[in-house]
Amino acid sequence: MTRKTVRIAMNGVTGRMGHRQHLVRSILALREQGGLDLGDGTVLWPEPVLVGRREQALGALAARHGLEHFSADLDAVLSDPGVDIYFDAQVTSAREEAIRRAIAAGKHVYTEKPTATGLEGALELARLAHAAGVKHGVVQDKIFLPGLLKLKRLIDGGFFGRILSVRGEFGYWVFEGDWQEAQRPSWNYRAEDGGGIVVDMFPHWEYVLHELFGRVTSVQALTATHVPQRWDEHGKPYDATADDAAYGIFELEGGVIAQINSSWAVRVHRDELVEFQVDGTEGSAVAGLRECRVQHRSATPKPVWNPDVPAGEAFREQWQRVPDNGEFDNGFKAQWELFLKHVYADAPYHWDLLAGARGVQLAELGLRSSAEGRRIGVPEITP
Ligand SMILES: NC(=O)c1ccc[n+]([C@@H]2O[C@H](COP(=O)([O-])OP(=O)(O)OC[C@H]3O[C@@H](n4cnc5c(N)ncnc54)[C@H](O)[C@@H]3O)[C@@H](O)[C@H]2O)c1
Repeated sequence: MTRKTVRIAMNGVTGRMGHRQHLVRSILALREQGGLDLGDGTVLWPEPVLVGRREQALGALAARHGLEHFSADLDAVLSDPGVDIYFDAQVTSAREEAIRRAIAAGKHVYTEKPTATGLEGALELARLAHAAGVKHGVVQDKIFLPGLLKLKRLIDGGFFGRILSVRGEFGYWVFEGDWQEAQRPSWNYRAEDGGGIVVDMFPHWEYVLHELFGRVTSVQALTATHVPQRWDEHGKPYDATADDAAYGIFELEGGVIAQINSSWAVRVHRDELVEFQVDGTEGSAVAGLRECRVQHRSATPKPVWNPDVPAGEAFREQWQRVPDNGEFDNGFKAQWELFLKHVYADAPYHWDLLAGARGVQLAELGLRSSAEGRRIGVPEITP
């Protein structure tokens, strides 16, 4: 076995996603398992170079994880020929510019979603990366969740017959920040800082729907800012200018209709923070982050509407749990592995900047649909 060290510039690793999911649960986890076996006698050894705005915070983070390399000078890191890959988990508003610089420096690019704040910018990134001949990938973690992998398995196995509809519920109560600290960063609630639930979540819904059920062909959304005032990380009140809830209806290629509610102003009466119910002619399923339950047509009860008598059946108990039948790795790590194999072993990979642009497009059209009060067609983006 030869060990090949690959240096990855990781920008935004002091943040929630950058630190927990990408640095700790993906890159450091890969090191803990001894690197990534490419299957051709090579083991990749990822060597992160922590990048950000505050040298001191980066130094402390590096020390905490026993890492050597960190810098607050992005251009210096990008001009280092030893660095192969640029990764971005910064706040959304800072992303496009940084990725442009990375592409110009000839680095492969892996990035969080949304890839840019508008469709034009997102498409331009895809064009630039293509022209520069660098490899590129965008985080689409939800399809790597155990619950959705089991759902995919059901679809591939023909469980549903003809799929009719998908209903998604995503959300939880995000505290305002006055009497209990908010559990999400305040920029998420300010439109001027790249916040908003549509910009955040519609890119996820685009690839989940597209990969599992069919490309989104139209969107109709109604957004709201249910909580107009919040308190930031310093306890200071601010105006929440971004949408904190979005009620969306999506038509999909092939005829499936999807409806997804996304909200940071909802209290959870569900088994998981996101759940999708899929109804088909032969059976139905409810998939969450980890679990998936099914009801086949042969086991479907026949309720009769009668409000005068109490519900005679425990409907939830009539569903069957889908077994894991395997082990599921962390979804972010699984996708990192595929991307690294794409870069270093030329493995196929389609979750690229163009796929990322489709997510940005859906968010943009979703917001426009809400502002204009109408359903909007989603033009297909092709290479
Ligand atoms: N894939 C997912 O499931 C998922 C989930 C949450 C967030 N995200 C995405 O990840 C990105 C980061 O989100 P987060 O929740 O980790 O945010 P965060 O606020 O916790 O972290 C943001 C990071 O960006 C850095 N940064 C750079 N420029 C900044 C600026 N001008 N202001 C503030 N911070 C700046 C911060 O130092 C920090 O490292 C966002 O683009 C978001 O859309 C993805």
